[in-house]
Amino acid sequence: MAPEKDGQIGVAAKDVVNQLAVIIRTAQIHNPTNVAVLSSIEKFVSMLNRLIWEAGSVELELVGDYFYLNEDRVRFSVEYLLNFDFLQREFKGRSLGRVHFLCGLKPEDMQHFVAAFLAAPHRPDPFESLSHALEPVKCIEVGGLRRIAEEAEHDIRRTVKRTYFNAVSFSKGVMKKLRAGEKVNIRRAKRIVESMVDLLLQQEDLLLGMTAIKNYDDYTFHHSVNVSILSIALGQRLGLSKRALMELGMVALFHDIGKTEIPPEVLNKPSNFTDEEWRIVRRHPFWGVKAVFKMKGVDATTIRAAIVAYEHHIHHDKTGYPRVRRLSDLDLFSRIVSIADQYDGMTSSRVYARVPMSPDRALSLMMKRTGSQLDPLLMKFFINMVGFYPVGSLVVLDSKELAVVCGTNPAHPLRPKVLIITDPRGNKLQEPRMADLTLKNPQGEYSLSIVKSLDITRYRVNLAEYLL
Ligand SMILES: [Fe+2]
Ligand SMILES: [Fe+2]
Repeated sequence: MAPEKDGQIGVAAKDVVNQLAVIIRTAQIHNPTNVAVLSSIEKFVSMLNRLIWEAGSVELELVGDYFYLNEDRVRFSVEYLLNFDFLQREFKGRSLGRVHFLCGLKPEDMQHFVAAFLAAPHRPDPFESLSHALEPVKCIEVGGLRRIAEEAEHDIRRTVKRTYFNAVSFSKGVMKKLRAGEKVNIRRAKRIVESMVDLLLQQEDLLLGMTAIKNYDDYTFHHSVNVSILSIALGQRLGLSKRALMELGMVALFHDIGKTEIPPEVLNKPSNFTDEEWRIVRRHPFWGVKAVFKMKGVDATTIRAAIVAYEHHIHHDKTGYPRVRRLSDLDLFSRIVSIADQYDGMTSSRVYARVPMSPDRALSLMMKRTGSQLDPLLMKFFINMVGFYPVGSLVVLDSKELAVVCGTNPAHPLRPKVLIITDPRGNKLQEPRMADLTLKNPQGEYSLSIVKSLDITRYRVNLAEYLL
């Protein structure tokens, strides 16, 4: 794994967000001058001053669903999830997008901030009132929430689609070239993977949504792209640097490259494989290594690609194939790719498993394989990433309407983002509508909840229609 480049700021970023949430939460329960509030303020101030000393100033910004500290996205952290979610809602409730801590911060400054923060929602214009109240405090500046315009949203959807299909056409081209005995240039692959990494860092749900649409013809090409996207998304949860994510995306894109050696009549065979055919299919990890080394410009990444091509069907407990007598630990990237590979394989209607599984069934099967076939720690992150109801699941709500899951909600795994597609009688809606399952009615109960997930393969639901 590439070393993390972050210094003090990167390490403490999530603690900054968490500690600010702790202060606000405590101050909401007690009086802002309460001793518990003061001690959490003191902790925050000493943490911040260390960072200000190092970086000159510290700016915490909320963009979309993510916090950024001095322009670096604050890493996902399971233990702080509820506090992150809380702070995000509090910021949004005040249209607050940015807090800039400039000079030697004093506890009194933070006390002032907390008092203004708590008072703001009761004013006609919360942000205006907060910003006005903070004028005497020289060390803290605030900025409004930047709204992502609908137009920008439309553009980003187009970019996501373009990036995805560009990657698919690239992987098609690679297979063709290899079959024709031509050299493959990996420079284009690097550019493609870089754009996928960039998109995942800002618009994870949309790109993950693309991997959930499975009714494409060319399974093999979509599969390599999907595995690459799922691997990058998982790597991001693990806190890998952007450079490492790029390398991971590359090696994942090439994990099945050895399949070019499998005769098409075997690869595309509609019925079950014979023993002899299985023997051929199981050689694709060897052929993968050979194919990788045939590429132009072998470097550290291609060597890692060869390792992953070789190891991606070797299980966590060293069963699987190729059979290995003595093997040190599997490469981290192989373990990530093998999780992404199994998930995409099971949920796709590939040739040698005609009926795809619904995402939640695939996930529960993979959970049974945790520890034997799959790395338990990585699976924890993966389950957290795809959620209890993965993107692409079909669910029935307590209103009897059917909905498609189109985004996860890490803070509330049982309350993902959904798109309602039918009325309570099951009639298809002309205009599907998004529903927020975290909304509560005046009695404090959730307005809408998922009752259960349905097997999407048994309903005639065209996911592409909803997720694109
Ligand atoms: Fe494979
Ligand atoms: Fe695969």
